[in-house]
Amino acid sequence: MSSIASNPPHGGTLINRIVNPEQRQDFLDKAERLPRVTLDDRAFSDLVMIAIGGFSPIAGFMAQTDYNTVVTDMRMADGTPWAVPVTLSVDETTAAGLQEGTLVRLDDATGRFVGVLELTEKYTYDKVKEATHVYRTDEDKHPGVKVVYDQGAINLAGPIWLLERDPHPLFPIYQIDPAASRAMFAEKGWKTVVGFQTRNPIHRAHEYIQKCALEIVDGLFLHPLVGATKSDDIPADVRMRCYEIMLEHYYPQDRVILAINPSAMRYAGPREAIFHALIRKNYGCTHFIVGRDHAGVGDYYGTYDAQYIFDEFQPGELGITPLKFEHAFYCTRTSTMATSKTSPSAPEERIHLSGTKVREMLRRGELPPPEFSRPEVAAELARAMRVAQAV
Ligand code: ADX
Repeated sequence: MSSIASNPPHGGTLINRIVNPEQRQDFLDKAERLPRVTLDDRAFSDLVMIAIGGFSPIAGFMAQTDYNTVVTDMRMADGTPWAVPVTLSVDETTAAGLQEGTLVRLDDATGRFVGVLELTEKYTYDKVKEATHVYRTDEDKHPGVKVVYDQGAINLAGPIWLLERDPHPLFPIYQIDPAASRAMFAEKGWKTVVGFQTRNPIHRAHEYIQKCALEIVDGLFLHPLVGATKSDDIPADVRMRCYEIMLEHYYPQDRVILAINPSAMRYAGPREAIFHALIRKNYGCTHFIVGRDHAGVGDYYGTYDAQYIFDEFQPGELGITPLKFEHAFYCTRTSTMATSKTSPSAPEERIHLSGTKVREMLRRGELPPPEFSRPEVAAELARAMRVAQAV
């Protein structure tokens, strides 16, 4: 094993809240007597992310003091940068049945006992304030804001435990948690690793910015998000197959690790870019790619707002370096991928398609062009669309 240590986790210590066998037995013995809260998909993925250290230094659902300063100042109460609240919300009736200072059993949406919360605090919060600060809009048309408006009025706070780290049902070999990714980076001798967040099928602009980054760092950590997304986003299994195809044909395999990010999308644009970067820091990355409209949705954010927000922190404060990329496209004049930084092309010489346009093409049975998508990926997307349309 190499002695190279990867980037320290946020806050200095990698959190591990997965119970050991004795604690597990103790919780199982108590399970029937504990009051229950059922987690939705997002809260469950947050529970997992906390437990595996992906949200270090957070060890539980946020207390009111942290929540307040995260919402208004992008910092926890002790000053540690953090951009998105990690909260567990329930309705008033459920909250009334729970006592501070006691343990709460956490079940997933199927009723399976998955974790425990040591309830330290219950508090009300201002949803519109959260929306306006974190999502920069109070419109319920925004999918992240809608989640906030639809959730319960009371936040439950306190440290959590995860009962079992189950293999992912669809992607067990890509379930590489922060402790494991750190060990892999060390094993490979990578001193610098760039993390890549994505919720869309890989296209040539993604490939271009990943490879530009790979020219200057030792390794690429491809980290597609597989937690909850909007219903019209392409499903994670299709996206993962596209990545497998790309790795097989177009990437130097020894310089890339593909792993899943279990967390849920918030669509919070700039705030989420900071959140995404800190998560990848916890996985051991030293750099993080932020391209055009990172984690954006609709027209809520300016094209480069998710890059500008990094300037609100002192250099070094976040402990991970953003690699910022302009809008990339295929340039017909130079016959290569480019951005306006590297290409003299006129707008009509630039080929770029929105995700919506690509979905429309696929629905009509058309393949996205090779300037947008590698042919093998286009074929896989078309195949998946045919299957989806047949059911
Ligand atoms: S995201 O919601 O996860 O950000 P997506 O999967 O589309 O969506 O993007 C992944 C990363 O690639 C983000 O950093 C995004 O800014 C960047 N990106 C996507 N398309 C382009 C493009 N054409 N040019 C530059 N960066 C891009």
